[in-house]
Amino acid sequence: MSSSIPSEWLQQHFNLEEVGPAYHQLYRLICRAILEGKFPAGTRLPSSRDLAGDLGIARNTVLQVYGQLADEGYVRAGVGQGTYVEDISQDLVEPADEASDSSQEPDRRAPLAGTPHGLSRRGRNVMNHLGFSNRQTGAFMPGIPDVREFPLKVWSRIQNRQWRAGPWDLMRYAPAGGYGPLRQAISDYLGSARSVRSTARQVVMTTGIHQGIDVAARLLCDDGDVVWIEEPAYWGIRNLLSSSGLRVVPIRVDDEGICPGAAELAHPPRLIVVAPSHQYPLGMVMSLARRRMLLDYARQVSCWIIEDDYDSEFRYGNRPLPSLQGMDDADRVLYAGSFSKTLFPGLRVGFLVVPDVLANHFANAIAELYREGNMMSHSVLAEFIREGHFGAHIRRVRKRYAERRECLIEEIHRHFGSGLGIVGDRSGLHLVLALPEGVEDAMVVRDALDQKVITRPLSAYYLNRGHARPGLLLGYAGVTPEEIRPAFSALAGVLDHYL
Ligand SMILES: Cc1ncc(COP(=O)(O)O)c(C=O)c1O
Repeated sequence: MSSSIPSEWLQQHFNLEEVGPAYHQLYRLICRAILEGKFPAGTRLPSSRDLAGDLGIARNTVLQVYGQLADEGYVRAGVGQGTYVEDISQDLVEPADEASDSSQEPDRRAPLAGTPHGLSRRGRNVMNHLGFSNRQTGAFMPGIPDVREFPLKVWSRIQNRQWRAGPWDLMRYAPAGGYGPLRQAISDYLGSARSVRSTARQVVMTTGIHQGIDVAARLLCDDGDVVWIEEPAYWGIRNLLSSSGLRVVPIRVDDEGICPGAAELAHPPRLIVVAPSHQYPLGMVMSLARRRMLLDYARQVSCWIIEDDYDSEFRYGNRPLPSLQGMDDADRVLYAGSFSKTLFPGLRVGFLVVPDVLANHFANAIAELYREGNMMSHSVLAEFIREGHFGAHIRRVRKRYAERRECLIEEIHRHFGSGLGIVGDRSGLHLVLALPEGVEDAMVVRDALDQKVITRPLSAYYLNRGHARPGLLLGYAGVTPEEIRPAFSALAGVLDHYL
């Protein structure tokens, strides 16, 4: 490959406006291109001077990135001889496809060469798959509730009351499992709202679903154990599981949810992570038949299921199905919940509901590993739920989000008629705008960002890019109709170039 091809590709994908140092972005882009085979072994990278000129960044930045890539074994560089991509095929693993035998799958890890800047293979793996964004506001950032709707006055009234009472006990480390009254309030709420069967003892406080899944992976799995995730899935959980040393196997989803084939069922995993109430990001609800199949399977092969119930409170018209946990008679399900979407993400309060036999272990492990606290917020939250403000808040924002969802759908129809499919719009905080096969959704996202419109490419949520469908995730919950309309017009202008 001539060096003009990497240069063109990097110019297309590099975004000077992205938050964070240019160095990190360029490093990630080149790694990704090498790992995904876009820059195969032997490809000559542009000279540092040319690339710096093409991208509008300092030459030193490019030199630094090339130096790191050479340290890590991605490229080889000789003085005056150019920089060439190394052959890393030995160290890479193809993502599993539906028919593959997961027990035969080799280690899914980053290239073996080098130990750059002290990072472990695990650490490099995390860095190579970063999905988080520092952008937290604006149309159409997905997964973000409207924090401006939060009832600050009610919250601060309860908080002031707690502070005045001299909350010395709340200022210490939390007891194992977390603040008792909040565990009880959550258990009561989940019983009526989500058909979750629990006692307060089974509710273990976490800082969110991320931490819940992290601790479950540590306590229930060993290095190299297989974990099934849905394909596509939320990148955060995927990265978390693979950085815990697990072999992450993507299992395709159909209209009824996760759909393992015979070859996959023949090789049981240790853990299955699903979002049955609202698959992320496609948004379908797992059917009752599929729920029963999954529970029967978990009982037969003695594997664990984590039910990620991150935003089930927001549904527009369709009836909620009971939680998977509520249907589980064999104690195989751990229910992971969070207040990130219902209240606000920065609160960092979540919980796990674990089978009774695991309750003490989980409570003790979290106290031991993370030394939890934050009981002031926990005690305010317990009162907030108990006094009925939580239920009232959900009812109020659900109405708001329903109006915003309708506004976005109207805009889509106004611009494109029924030419583009809308997927997963009946619940949650976002919908997916399907794009025709062959459209590079990542390019659309980049061009949209030039117009100050934020979206995420659906293809990025697939581990096996061969199965990826193009589309755009459009979050509507955090933006008003007045913000949605001009932003969608700008996005439509970008899309017109691709359709
Ligand atoms: C599917 C899914 N699960 C879990 C989370 C994160 O949950 P938490 O903020 O509680 O860690 C997210 C965040 O967007 C998500 O999309």
